[in-house]
Amino acid sequence: MNSTDLRLEYDRLCDELNYHSYRYHVLDSPVISDYEYDQLLKKLREIESRHPEWIRADSPAQRVGSAPQEKFAKVQHPASILSLSNAFSPEDIRAWYERLLKLDARIAQTDFVIEPKIDGLTVVLRYQNGVFAGGATRGDGEVGEDISANLRTIRSIPLKIPVDAQGPKPPVDLFVRGEVFITNKDFDRLNQRLLENGEKTYLNPRNTAAGSLRQLDPALTASRPLTLLTYQIVAASEGVPETQKGILDYLKSLGFPVSGDVRVYGTIDEVIAALPGWNEKRNQLPYEADGIVIKINDLALANDLGAVGKDPRGAIAFKFPAREVTTRLLDIEINVGRTGVLTPTAVLDPVEIGGVVVKQATLHNFDYIREKDIRIGDRVLVKRAGEVIPYIIGPVVEARDGSEREFQPPQNCPVCREPVQNLPGEIAWFCVNFSCPAQLIRHLEHFVSKSAMDINGLGIKIVEQLVAAGLVKDAADLYQLSREDLLKLEGFAEKKAENIIQAIQGSKSQPLERFINALGIRGVGEVMAAQFAAYFQSMDRFRYAGREELMSLEGVGPNIADAVVDWLSRPHNQELLEKFKASGVWPEGKREKDTGKKQTLAGLTFVVTGTLEHFTREAITAYIQAHGGKVTDSVSKSTSYLVVGENAGSKLEKARSLGIKTISESELKALAEGADA
Ligand code: IVH
Repeated sequence: MNSTDLRLEYDRLCDELNYHSYRYHVLDSPVISDYEYDQLLKKLREIESRHPEWIRADSPAQRVGSAPQEKFAKVQHPASILSLSNAFSPEDIRAWYERLLKLDARIAQTDFVIEPKIDGLTVVLRYQNGVFAGGATRGDGEVGEDISANLRTIRSIPLKIPVDAQGPKPPVDLFVRGEVFITNKDFDRLNQRLLENGEKTYLNPRNTAAGSLRQLDPALTASRPLTLLTYQIVAASEGVPETQKGILDYLKSLGFPVSGDVRVYGTIDEVIAALPGWNEKRNQLPYEADGIVIKINDLALANDLGAVGKDPRGAIAFKFPAREVTTRLLDIEINVGRTGVLTPTAVLDPVEIGGVVVKQATLHNFDYIREKDIRIGDRVLVKRAGEVIPYIIGPVVEARDGSEREFQPPQNCPVCREPVQNLPGEIAWFCVNFSCPAQLIRHLEHFVSKSAMDINGLGIKIVEQLVAAGLVKDAADLYQLSREDLLKLEGFAEKKAENIIQAIQGSKSQPLERFINALGIRGVGEVMAAQFAAYFQSMDRFRYAGREELMSLEGVGPNIADAVVDWLSRPHNQELLEKFKASGVWPEGKREKDTGKKQTLAGLTFVVTGTLEHFTREAITAYIQAHGGKVTDSVSKSTSYLVVGENAGSKLEKARSLGIKTISESELKALAEGADA
């Protein structure tokens, strides 16, 4: 290729790359893959290394890596970069409107634009003949700092306009204002990466964006996921649209990123009616917004209204309730979970966050407290957003007065006082005492729960009573309980005791996967338990499962395999299993050849009605199915047997009228088991 052609090729590559960058970062709709983009960029870099004299100001290869600076130069803004006054209630918005109306009667005719108020940093971008010529921070509104090299690294900032050849020609001199920020997703990803590298994480997207923009080394800025949305033309050498909505559309047509969440309202009443909706919408925005900005759409009118100090009259910020607030950390409490894991919980000086009074927040684990250097007595930043449990982001180090105390993780379980342990490869600390009452209660709660043994009527209250009375020291003890035991407890009458005993006994026929889930092995929930049940088919095999064997199963990694093997290798647990087995709680898998259960009920369809003596509904269904039978809900001609318990109702009548055979619970068992022998 001769030099002229190569130069043409270089120009073409620059334009093409800028176009793809725009599609990716501004329109969010790339048309080539990242790989193809990188290939093109590589070609461009090769040409630039041979012909540095050709390098264009808008070259995408120049987005990264210019040399670090000593300090930022000062830049005079072409016009004041104004701020905003705040409103916190619909009344404040109404009052703002009334004030304006008194100043200028044209207000009655204007419409309003609402935009999200992005919680980022204001920047002013300068373009000459459509080429990015630099940019600055807001500074004091008159003079900012020249952060051109850093801004150049932000890929959503167009280096040349129009990016798209079809766009309008921009004014020769153009100053655009926007907000630089980090999306929530990028922020989480960034922190995740830091966490994995054992580095300190950032407090929130805004602080991170601020810190990243003011780096003297642009390479550092380039490594942070900064992005931008624009919303104002600060100055232009030629005419620009006269309404705020017109400006936003115009900026968009020039290739600038503009918020898609902008609405125009005809009257102030419509604006006020829309406020609650915006508060809701906040949760769907991909970035942090601390409010919305309500702007007079007619920019000439807005301009005529002037400003109060730094705040223009023609726009106002409606602030959302804060999601992050600071308060004092009064204490750190330790809870003991089902698996014995110790979790620290922050006891806070009660504080309102987003309309809810928060008194407690999670601190995740002891490492978290140490990494963030959170001390008792600290002023801490607490976050509550949506459904998330409030958590502590970190301490406000500047607010310390020396009275704060470093937190010492406990060496003993706060409930049973036994020494705690940190298992290899685990962040968490555990109480490994299986008779620790705190753990036992949590464990039993799980054992009897719907997804585990599903013991109806045995709620947390009763579990606590049983543990407190010393009647139950492990889950197997449940099966030794008698009616008399229960009647000794407060609040028990005959019927209730009877029902619970029945429910407990009935749970013996729960399928294997439920039993494995009920054991409460760390990392083994419903899905994993079903996986193990399907493979091992019996407790006799599962109880001796080996690490390699476990890891050969899909979705089972070394952590789960180790947790299972660890659990099974503890003598206490093997004793517990022995106890279950002795009590007849020893479920087996469904397949005949492995379970040994003959498919005695194969081909038969059952309907169950009334209250049974030994089975819950779920249990009898499982029992019939285990023997190859089918269970349906309603009686029809194809029903083979109706299993009848106490207080049977309309199903019994229907069965009689259709001539369907009825059997009792014990007759069913005889049918299933009798033939087993
Ligand atoms: S308009 C005259 N619009 O909020 C124009 N500001 O608290 C005044 N901000 O300094 C600003 N999103 O940094 C405007 N859509 C938006 C905004 C926005 C975020 C920031 C901006 C401003 C601060 C005022």
